[in-house]
Amino acid sequence: MKLAVVEGDGIGKEVIPAAIEVLDSLGLDVEKIPVELGYGKWERTGSAITDEDIDTLKECDCVFFGAVTTPPDPNYKSVLLTIRKELDMYANIRPIRPLPSVKGIHERNDFNFIIVRENTEGLYSGIEEIGTDISTTKRVVTRKGSKRIADYACKLAKSRMNKLTIVHKSNVMKSDKLFLDVSRQSAIDTGVLHRDELVDSFAYNLITSPWNYDVIVTTNLFGDILSDMSGALVGGLGLLPSANIGEKYAFFEPVHGSAPDIAGNNRANPVAAILSLKMLLEWHGDLAEAAIVEEAIDVALNMGICTPDLGGKHTTSEVGNTIAKYIRTKM
Ligand code: NAI
Ligand code: MG
Repeated sequence: MKLAVVEGDGIGKEVIPAAIEVLDSLGLDVEKIPVELGYGKWERTGSAITDEDIDTLKECDCVFFGAVTTPPDPNYKSVLLTIRKELDMYANIRPIRPLPSVKGIHERNDFNFIIVRENTEGLYSGIEEIGTDISTTKRVVTRKGSKRIADYACKLAKSRMNKLTIVHKSNVMKSDKLFLDVSRQSAIDTGVLHRDELVDSFAYNLITSPWNYDVIVTTNLFGDILSDMSGALVGGLGLLPSANIGEKYAFFEPVHGSAPDIAGNNRANPVAAILSLKMLLEWHGDLAEAAIVEEAIDVALNMGICTPDLGGKHTTSEVGNTIAKYIRTKM
């Protein structure tokens, strides 16, 4: 496998090396291509991502990504929006599943759902007019974009409990009526049991009764917000992995950002990044390796080897190191 490795900014520079130590412990044949992107590069060179960087990413089998910082500068073009668009990775897959030894906000741990977020359009279209008194951002919903994400979610639902929840706000935003209609049709065509919920009451239902859900499909902004919110269900943002999938390319990253408030202290939780690595291995067909990574995470957390966000005293590198060491004893 030829793997592009992007640490990015802030805690990306800490959690990715920890996850790479875990990858190395598996002894797979992986050629790692480091790619520098993000705010740090922008400060140094005036551009956060170049055409050559995009070509490099496209030449690799997939991308493993940390996080980037977005400065409040109107001339700064979002690195992630650029990559998701250029590589046309339309599906952002965010599984929310509790780890055995970490408690979230509920006593019950018997839930396991996946947010399938449309990743290329919606309110993150990047089409904006920024003025002094009026600023607008265009919300784009297309039949093609809605159909491919709905089809993806239905296929995923069929491989699980065959249960799909379509989340939208079509009562207020007419653009969501297209998303809802196309998603419903896709569920009918594929024989998936489905219902739809308005995003505001859905947010309440999801946080109070997460065990009622299986696969959730929604538009870009809603999926972004609902997945961070769901972090509270499993014990924090440092535990949420994600995959960005398109027809040709795939890209794996923790859900969290660059966390400037804790960056530089070796105290960021690397588990979200390591679970993203696990998703990468599954995608690549290395199922035994993915399973051992998951087992090793459970073992480390069970031993109380965890970072301060989970109440622990250990550093990012110590957590990565413990997980890698366990894997080495098993390989
Ligand atoms: P954030 O996710 O970076 O941090 C939110 C809070 O969660 C912070 O208090 C942080 O310390 C904590 N946190 C996040 N990840 C953690 C981890 N692994 N271990 C322990 N604690 C963790 O979101 P925020 O603060 O809103 O954004 C910071 C920067 O990151 C911004 O510049 C934003 O644009 C960027 N960002 C980048 C993303 C990406 O590259 N995928 C995604 C989200 C934000
Ligand atoms: Mg986000």
